[in-house]
Amino acid sequence: VAHTADLVVFGGTGDLSMRKLLPALFHSDRDGRLAPETRIIALSRGGLTDADFRGKVDAEVRDQVPADDLALWQRFLGRLHHLTVDVGGQDRTGWQALSRLLAGHESRDRVFYLASPPMTFGPFCRELELAGLVTPDSRVVLEKPLGRDLPSAQLINDEVGAIFDEQQIFRIDHYLGKETVQNLLVLRFANAFLEPVWNSLWIDHVQITVAETVGTPGRRGYYDHAGALRDMVQNHLLQLLTLTAMESPARNDREAIRDEKVKVLQSLRPIVGTEVGRFTVRGQYAQAGDLPGYLAEPGSTPPTEDSGRVETFTAIRAEIRNWRWAGVPFYLRTGKRMPHRRSEIVVQFKDVPHSIFPGGAPNRLVLRLQPEEGIELHIMAKEPGAGEIMLKPVPMSLSFGKTFTTRVPDAYERLLTDVLAGNPTLFMRRDEVEAAWRWIDPILDAWQASPDLPEPYPAGTAGPASAHELLGRSGRAWHEEE
Ligand code: BG6
Repeated sequence: VAHTADLVVFGGTGDLSMRKLLPALFHSDRDGRLAPETRIIALSRGGLTDADFRGKVDAEVRDQVPADDLALWQRFLGRLHHLTVDVGGQDRTGWQALSRLLAGHESRDRVFYLASPPMTFGPFCRELELAGLVTPDSRVVLEKPLGRDLPSAQLINDEVGAIFDEQQIFRIDHYLGKETVQNLLVLRFANAFLEPVWNSLWIDHVQITVAETVGTPGRRGYYDHAGALRDMVQNHLLQLLTLTAMESPARNDREAIRDEKVKVLQSLRPIVGTEVGRFTVRGQYAQAGDLPGYLAEPGSTPPTEDSGRVETFTAIRAEIRNWRWAGVPFYLRTGKRMPHRRSEIVVQFKDVPHSIFPGGAPNRLVLRLQPEEGIELHIMAKEPGAGEIMLKPVPMSLSFGKTFTTRVPDAYERLLTDVLAGNPTLFMRRDEVEAAWRWIDPILDAWQASPDLPEPYPAGTAGPASAHELLGRSGRAWHEEE
């Protein structure tokens, strides 16, 4: 049974809250995963009353609610509150109002969800402490990005860590809430047939791609200072890499799993200095047909010199230095304005040791996260016919949508349920985040020091030419190019 909770969302009227958190909370409510008295208290600078906020949520989120559920939707709206707060400012009235609202409910689980920029995390936690709102059962949820490099991430971790214990801190990476990502753990650690071949003896290389068709309209303020490496690789792609490469944990518990993941990050071979040019690619989309280039995307601020230097695409050849993976490249790739929205992990096996048939291609396991979650194993089959044996790769495929009739929850639903249950397994531990930055920082430094700009690629295409050469020079190719 879910505990009664007060969920306080800072940045509660923002984009993430409207697009992801509130719909996810509604679905949790509908499925009976919120206790009847649980409240959702949005904080912003917006000066809204509870009624204003409910009206705004009703107007912006209701189209995601099935028609049959409108009565439940009304009940859900009744859980919502709004308070106006001033972080780091002189005006204490918002904090006093929050204290009054929470007073008398100290025994409830308190969750402070910071859906706000990272520089607000430390100040916000200090305000909470100052107002005496942190109880032993409080948790704090930090949205990405957690800093912009290792020192800034450490600073945030220190500031938040001065007020909350590590087990109270939930650092979100919403990729860990995706069904296929959790399924990867099940596939690897609940099936016997993969483990014997899951190593450098049998695997040629791994490709991890998160391709998006969207550009960055309206996000220049954020994106100019982020770029694909910070926005996607430091967190989502490296998380996918750890789950693909980790050793079997001894138990399905928070520390055992995260211990194994962190070891993978610590085993990444650093890419430094001149190697950065060899093992990484950065690109920026340029105008093509109706699609604007990055610099012409509408945004609240005009493009600056930073805009010209930011990468909207990156590809990296990573290596894990341990017994299982030595010599197996892990190619990472992500970009905006690519031709298809497609996220997948492709495990490419080696060729058969000795071939007795003409033709043939190595086996390949594709774990698809998006658009349709599923698993495909490409195996060689004989093409029917009475003549000479002809090989043909055919997929053995599992589509989650077709196999299971239950609704696939959004990543945020799963993660919010875990936060409310106090289970941090699918959240990033401090050492994980920092190990990821430790590997990313030298790449950022080298890019920063380089006089070169990112290579342009036409919007709607699969990245710049160098991304193809990154694999092509060792005779390999990205999955969709064959
Ligand atoms: C976010 C990034 O973390 O992930 C966005 O900030 C990106 O730039 C998004 O578009 C992708 O998430 P998903 O779940 O749509 O693949």
